[in-house]
This record gives sequence, structure tokens and C-alpha cells, in this order.
Amino acid sequence: MAATSLRDCKAWQDVGMALSTTSNEACKLFDATLYQYVTWTNDKTMGGIEGCLQKMKAADPNFVMGHVISNGLDLIGTGRSPLLDKEFERDLKVMSDLAKTQPLTEREKLHVAALETFAKGNLPKAADTWDLILQDHPLDLLAIKLAHDSYFYLGQKTQMRDSISRILPYWTPNTPLSSYVKGMYSFGLLETNFYDQALKVAKEALATDQKDCWSVHTVAHVYEMKADVEEGLSFVKQTENNWKGGDMLACHVYWHWALYFIEKGEYEAAMTLYDEYCAHVLYEREHAGRRGQFISAPRLQMEGVDVDKRWDKLVQVTKKHRDDHILMFNDLHFLMSSLGSKDREMTTQLLQALKELSKSPGENYQHSLIRDSSVSRSLSQALVEFDSGNYDKVVELMQPIRYQILHIGGSDAQRDLFNQVLIHAAINSNKKSHQNLARSLLIERDVLRPNSPLTQRLMRKASAVHTLV
Ligand SMILES: [Fe+2]
Repeated sequence: MAATSLRDCKAWQDVGMALSTTSNEACKLFDATLYQYVTWTNDKTMGGIEGCLQKMKAADPNFVMGHVISNGLDLIGTGRSPLLDKEFERDLKVMSDLAKTQPLTEREKLHVAALETFAKGNLPKAADTWDLILQDHPLDLLAIKLAHDSYFYLGQKTQMRDSISRILPYWTPNTPLSSYVKGMYSFGLLETNFYDQALKVAKEALATDQKDCWSVHTVAHVYEMKADVEEGLSFVKQTENNWKGGDMLACHVYWHWALYFIEKGEYEAAMTLYDEYCAHVLYEREHAGRRGQFISAPRLQMEGVDVDKRWDKLVQVTKKHRDDHILMFNDLHFLMSSLGSKDREMTTQLLQALKELSKSPGENYQHSLIRDSSVSRSLSQALVEFDSGNYDKVVELMQPIRYQILHIGGSDAQRDLFNQVLIHAAINSNKKSHQNLARSLLIERDVLRPNSPLTQRLMRKASAVHTLV
């Protein structure tokens, strides 16, 4: 995006989204930050996201929407918790206090309210608030993206799709960044199993901007969900130069690339990709809060692969986020890392903390997922039992909640890890009923994703163990 096209005060007013500041510089830096958030970039030519935020706050320290986008990025990044991080708590209070003393627009007031709600852990209400903004302001890209990301965290696939479909007609091809809105729509279509439509929309978005990492990501998912491994590998290989510069998402696309190799049974190739392109993000930049999903190790271990010291390195990062408890999706991955590295102290602390949080979740939606018999409580215990080889217990814990697993958020491809845990446990269980369940789950998997080499390997394994198929 050219610096000249960044919107000043009047430009924001002209599109019906006036910003309460008299600083043109602050408005432009708000736009530059929004641009980088939506395009998953950290554009050095603009000063990067951090650089833009600093300059924006300097240009107008009282710019409420400036505080909104700054705090919003931290909240949606899930790497900082206002419950633990006093500085972050203070930042949120500054935003709320400023909002009370200024004659803001209704749109701005709703943005502040949405973040206050999100900070309390009430993600469903925050997402509703962003959607409320979109009823009157369908071009509000900050609301679009924050709602989209929140629905992703909530596993609310239909809402993720419909939130975009409602506003899409207002985005003409001439509206800046319209292809990125299409990219978000394609992801909603993908997660609601409209694979062909998702592919079509993502490719339309890529025709406008081939560097659009989110649309690349949709395409990678479609091939993953259809077990179309060769098409997927060909696509990521051929387009690598387009998306590898996508600072915030490229490593996740490499993770998808590694998934194709795991699907094919080419484990060394998967680990090489992980080591070269994913690990540095986890170890050096410590983005474990947001990127716990990159962990490929449990999938590899279930396939009988030795992942060597990777868990030990990973747990050093996840340990720093042990007390965050922002998303149960993250916590479950942190638990996998403590189990994988045999860090009993961290495992015990995590389980104990989850138990405590479940006693009084208040309006924190994520904490409500760990009440007795709830999805996260069952999954966390199932992971512990799986690690101990108590496969009967794993099946007993996971089978009743398998259709609720989507509530922990993430994508179908990410949550497939839990499907695999259940299948492996059912195969290895001594109970006949569990062995029959394994057969049923594998038939179901084969129908959904025909010709999956991974499913075929599991079927062979089940057959060898129990002569099931
Ligand atoms: Fe993904």
C-alpha cells in the first residue's frame, strides 16, 4: 500500500467512518496498522506494526481508535493476558478512560465496548458487538477482521462465514483491500465444507493479489481437507515465492506443507520443513500464545516417529505462557508440550490451574469450557491418559464429546489432531466396543476424505491389530 493512499481525517470521514482525532498523521498510521493486520504483514517500508503504533500514539496520545487497534491486536494475538500483564491492564484502562471523556461516534464506542468484553474473556459477546458495528458500517475492516478472528477462536464456523457474506456486496473490486475480504470469506466457506466454492473465491482473491497469504492458506486447507496431497504440494511449491514473505502467516503455510508430508508418510521431509520454517517463529519470537497450533510432533509421534528433542525446546516457550489461559486451544497444546517433554511439574501445574479456573469462570467463555465433563476438561484428561497408554480411558473421555471439540476453536485441519488421538486410542484399546468404534471412525474418515494415505495406514494398523477391516 502506497503511503499516499493512506487515509487522513477527511478520507475516513468521507467513507462514513470518522475517527475522533484532528491528527491526519494518526489517521494514516491507523490505516497503515490496519493494512498490515488485514494482510498478515509486518511491512518494514511502513515502519512495521510496532513502529506505526508508536508513531500513532506520539501523533495523538488521546486517539481512542489508536488505542483500540493497539489493544485489539494484543488481545487477538492471545500472547498477552490483561489478567497477568499489569502494563496491558493499564493500556486497556487508558483506552476506557479516554473513551469516557470524549464525544466519540457510536461506532467508536462499540469498538471500545467490544474490546472491554473481549478482555474479560467473553469472546461471543465481543464478536456480536463487531457484527453489530458491521450492520451500519459494512466497510469497517477492523470490525470485519476482529470478528472473523474471534469466530475462528470460538469454532463458530457458520458465523465466521456469514459475518463476511453479509458485508461482501458492499465491497466493490475498486474498494482497497476488497480481495482480502474475499479471502476471509473463502476461509469461512472452507470451514463450512463448501470446498469448491472456497477454492473458487480464494483463487479470485489471489488473481487480485497473489501475495494474499490468507487466501493461499484457504487453498492449502482445501487440499488438506480433500486429502488431495499432490495438488496441495504442487500449489504451495509453485506459489512459495508469493507467500513466503508473509511475515505473520508464512510459517503457518509451511506447517500446512508439512501436513501434506505427514499425510504421505514422508516424516523426515515434514520435520525438515518444521525445523527450517516453523521452529524459529516459536523459539526465537516466542509466539507460542498464538501459534501453539504449529506443533506437528504429536501427529508424528502417533505415526511412530521419534521427534527427538523438539518437545524440550518447545516447552521452554510454552512454559512462559502456562498461566495465560486465554484460549483453551492454546492450553491444550501447551499440555501436549509438557507431556511430550515429560515435564511433570508443568503438566501438574497446568491441570491444577485449569481445575481452579473451572470453579468460577464468570463471563469468561474459555474458562467455561473446562467445567466438569466439558470439552476442555475431557480433552486435557484424555491427553494425559493417552500419554500414559490408558487407551480405554481416552476413548471413554473423548467419544461423548467428539462433536463438541469444535468449541475449542481453530480449524478442522488443526482439530483433526484430536480425531487422530481418538482413533489411535480406539485401535489400541483392549475393549471390543472400542475396537469397533475404531472401525466406524475410520470408515467415516474414509468417506469424508477419500484416498487419504493416512486413513489407509490407520486402517492397515487397525486390521493388523484386530483384523477389523
Ligand atoms: Fe491453517
